[in-house]
Amino acid sequence: MRNFTSVHDIGNIDAALKEAFDLKKDVFKYSDLGKNRTLLAIFFNSSLRTRLSTQKAALNLGMNVIVLDMNQGAWKLETGQGVIMDGDKPEHILEAIPVMGSYCDIIGVRSFAQFESRQDDYEEKILNQFIRYSGKPVFSMEAATRHPLQSFADLITIEEYKKTARPKIVMTWAPHPRALPQAVPNSFAEWINASGYEFVISHPEGYELDSRFVGDAKIEYNQDKAFEGANFIYAKNWAAYAEPDYGRILSRDRAWTVDARKMALTDNACFMHCLPVRRNMIVTDEVIESPQSIVIPEAANRVISAQVVLKRLLTDN
Ligand code: CP
Repeated sequence: MRNFTSVHDIGNIDAALKEAFDLKKDVFKYSDLGKNRTLLAIFFNSSLRTRLSTQKAALNLGMNVIVLDMNQGAWKLETGQGVIMDGDKPEHILEAIPVMGSYCDIIGVRSFAQFESRQDDYEEKILNQFIRYSGKPVFSMEAATRHPLQSFADLITIEEYKKTARPKIVMTWAPHPRALPQAVPNSFAEWINASGYEFVISHPEGYELDSRFVGDAKIEYNQDKAFEGANFIYAKNWAAYAEPDYGRILSRDRAWTVDARKMALTDNACFMHCLPVRRNMIVTDEVIESPQSIVIPEAANRVISAQVVLKRLLTDN
């Protein structure tokens, strides 16, 4: 594996899951693999879980880690080509990226959708510039359209908690006060479709995701109906994908908040969310604090997904 930006880079899912569970048994089994090799983790956006779990995964593999917050102390970067740089951005990303590449062996990048242009976001301009100009293996720590380390951890968690061979997994839209990217739901859809499980996506009309990620998932606009018989409820907000509403909030309807009445419609489903979560917007206190909530083990598995990816990048490059 040269880079890791989506499920397509991980190869056989069953083999990746097996590797994850082997690693989980002994996270220090490969503690010499990363000796004298440096991870540079670059954040254009805020993070708690990704920042900490990726560092922990790298430390478990014996790597050195440098973390760079682009919004705190780094030069503001110009990203446009052919721009006369007479504004407030003193450095161009085309110099900054190869310089950053010269200081490390592997680069992780977090760069969210800007919501200025759907085409720009879905072309993954920032992430692809790192792949093109850094000279180093690059992995996504959540880009404009996908969050593959999260989705891999989600799938590991589903494997751990599933009670049937082919569980019914429901990803439901839920309200949020701010416009959020589609990266998490896109990516979750892509990984669950690859797993072959029964998959239903529920959202209000107008919140249809890009069909390339939805695949063969069933779309159900009636959230109660979607929840019936579900084994896993994966809640997430996202802003509209379809033009002309791309990046806009179309609904703040709290009738879509996941509550105990809706969870009672399921087959004693586990509740999942990638976190951070807005309580009593996305999910009620009662549900997230219930025994059905597996958000903490889900977040803990972020170390394992990152460690599998870093192990492969270290081995293959
Ligand atoms: N789920 C997730 O990626 O969390 P952070 O944004 O805190 O990294």
